[in-house]
Amino acid sequence: MTVKRAFVDYYRERDISPVHQDISDRERHFGRRSSLYRFLGIPPLYVEGAHVLEFGPGSGDNALHTASLGPERYVLVDGNPRGVTETRAKLASALPEGVVEVVPSYVEDFKVAERFDLVVAEGLIPFQNEPVGFARHIASFVRPGGMLVVTCADSASAIGEIGRRLLANRIAPPSLPYAERRAQLSPVFASHLATLEGMSRSVDDWVDDNIAQPLTGKLYSMADAIESLGADGFIVTGSSPQFFTDWRWYKRVFGDERQFNERAIDSYYENIVNFLDYRETLAPHEAAVGRRIRTATDALYEAMHADDAGDPTGLPAAIAHLKEIAPLVKPIAPSTAASLDALANALSGDAKTAAGTNAFSPHFGRGQQYLSFTRDH
Ligand SMILES: C[S@@+](CC[C@H](N)C(=O)[O-])C[C@H]1O[C@@H](n2cnc3c(N)ncnc32)[C@H](O)[C@@H]1O
Repeated sequence: MTVKRAFVDYYRERDISPVHQDISDRERHFGRRSSLYRFLGIPPLYVEGAHVLEFGPGSGDNALHTASLGPERYVLVDGNPRGVTETRAKLASALPEGVVEVVPSYVEDFKVAERFDLVVAEGLIPFQNEPVGFARHIASFVRPGGMLVVTCADSASAIGEIGRRLLANRIAPPSLPYAERRAQLSPVFASHLATLEGMSRSVDDWVDDNIAQPLTGKLYSMADAIESLGADGFIVTGSSPQFFTDWRWYKRVFGDERQFNERAIDSYYENIVNFLDYRETLAPHEAAVGRRIRTATDALYEAMHADDAGDPTGLPAAIAHLKEIAPLVKPIAPSTAASLDALANALSGDAKTAAGTNAFSPHFGRGQQYLSFTRDH
């Protein structure tokens, strides 16, 4: 299929919203969400009585937690009719009448004069055609002094999905009918996902969303987010995972010395290996090494795009980039390098047989990260 708009075209065509969370244990679901808000520096009282705008609520499962904090007004915008219906149904009895408004609209077309205390855009900025401009539009609805939450993903943190898409193209090519492809891929990747403690999505949803979905847009790294939103007066406030610390004495931090965003970007590049593999938490490395790894993983992502599109140069290029990344990573994280070698070997040989058992199967990057920002007052 031809995808013009990330997520929505694919979801609409199939009438799916493959983003359900396991909320059978509501206490656990809410506990997770309140931990996320805590990492982002958003205390419950910030949401109580606040005006909240959320883009791309999907199934509305996460919105249930935000609603439980008691906003005075809660506007949700989604371009997938199925997502709109599911969100409306979920929130129907969560808040008093008149508080919730679910708006069927593309993000790009949403234009109101109202400004909000908190704007949330979770799981929809990376992979848009122009994620930087898309996020700036979203951020424009934050009132001065208010907060913004966005999610990011880059070619290092998405290594798990990039590697599995390359494997998937060998196991069940994208030309197969959608249901057949999913039926072949879900059992293979179920064993990989079973190694992920804390996984709260079904295997089929994960395959639909991360593997089968055509990806045409661009990634959106935390550096992209901090740089571009910083130019619009946003200051990074929190993150999940938390990767930056600042030991400066606040009395010396004013005027040009503030540098909150610059320091967070440095920390980002000093932790690329931590984003590349979720299994270990390592001491920061030199930012220059992080930049080199990111250049190579960006090239890997491009090779994956070519492979997805059926370009025969995609696979050999991907294998070559993996062989370039592994030695860069090896002195810092030997087990990560071993996983990348195993992926390169599986892609060079019989991927179908190797996919279930190799050293890559428990390897995932940190996937999606969250950043919160405060808009300069
Ligand atoms: C991957 S889902 C994320 C759902 C949920 N926020 C979560 O994190 O689980 C992306 C959601 O954003 C919506 N979306 C993506 N791009 C959009 C756009 N350009 N306009 C409106 N909605 C969009 C999709 O319909 C979908 O509901």
